[in-house]
Amino acid sequence: MAKKTLKKGLLITFEGPERCGKSTHSKKIVLFLRKKGYSVVHTREPGGTAVGDAIREVLLKKRKIFISPLAEMLLFEASRAELVKSVIRPALRAGKIVITDRFNDATMVYQGYAGGVPIKDIRKVESVSLGGVRPDLTVVLDIDISRGLRKIKTRLKDRMESKKISFHRKVRRGYLWLAAKDKKRIIVVKTEKRIEDTFLAVKEGVLRAVQKYTRSG
Ligand SMILES: Nc1ncnc2c1ncn2[C@@H]1O[C@H](COP(=O)(O)OP(=O)(O)OP(=O)(O)O)[C@@H](O)[C@H]1O
Ligand SMILES: [Mg+2]
Repeated sequence: MAKKTLKKGLLITFEGPERCGKSTHSKKIVLFLRKKGYSVVHTREPGGTAVGDAIREVLLKKRKIFISPLAEMLLFEASRAELVKSVIRPALRAGKIVITDRFNDATMVYQGYAGGVPIKDIRKVESVSLGGVRPDLTVVLDIDISRGLRKIKTRLKDRMESKKISFHRKVRRGYLWLAAKDKKRIIVVKTEKRIEDTFLAVKEGVLRAVQKYTRSG
């Protein structure tokens, strides 16, 4: 397959509540785009860098510690700042496609809409940590919350997953609220029973954005 080049680097983010399929579908789309000849970088949040992985341990693994929504927001943004600087911006400058499993919308929704940190405060910090980098396309995978949480029953929940069901319902509403405000950037894909059926819709949305920026010839 001939290499395909883009007019500019593209940042595509996967978002949505717990267990909606972000990791599954972001991995599948990376393989699909690479097969088509695109140069793709895959990363995840929090994490994706050495310091980001250490912050991930604090944010997700330590289930017993209390972290206020404000401190939580700043920790996520610290992890994000590092990821943008060392992974995302260099890849975008090289004209690659960057696919991330969660990004800045997760903070708006988890710490802002559901956690109560003022949205304007998140915007302020975010403008520093992102430094102008913004997603070109966001895929929100929408799942019925009880279906998503049921999938975790079989293993130990992390700190975020352990929050009350009302919190997770708010997270889902938060994503739909963001999507309604930014229909140009955010597509909502309802998760179907079969992964392949969901992936068809994901693929269609992503391809439309990618083809728009693909150089012809
Ligand atoms: N559309 C789908 N239909 C049915 N099952 C799915 C679908 N998408 C993903 N799954 C399954 O749901 C589970 C959770 O998927 P995945 O780990 O990709 O979700 P996630 O959003 O990354 O979760 P987490 O919030 O834990 O990171 C996996 O077992 C996966 O195989
Ligand atoms: Mg995941």
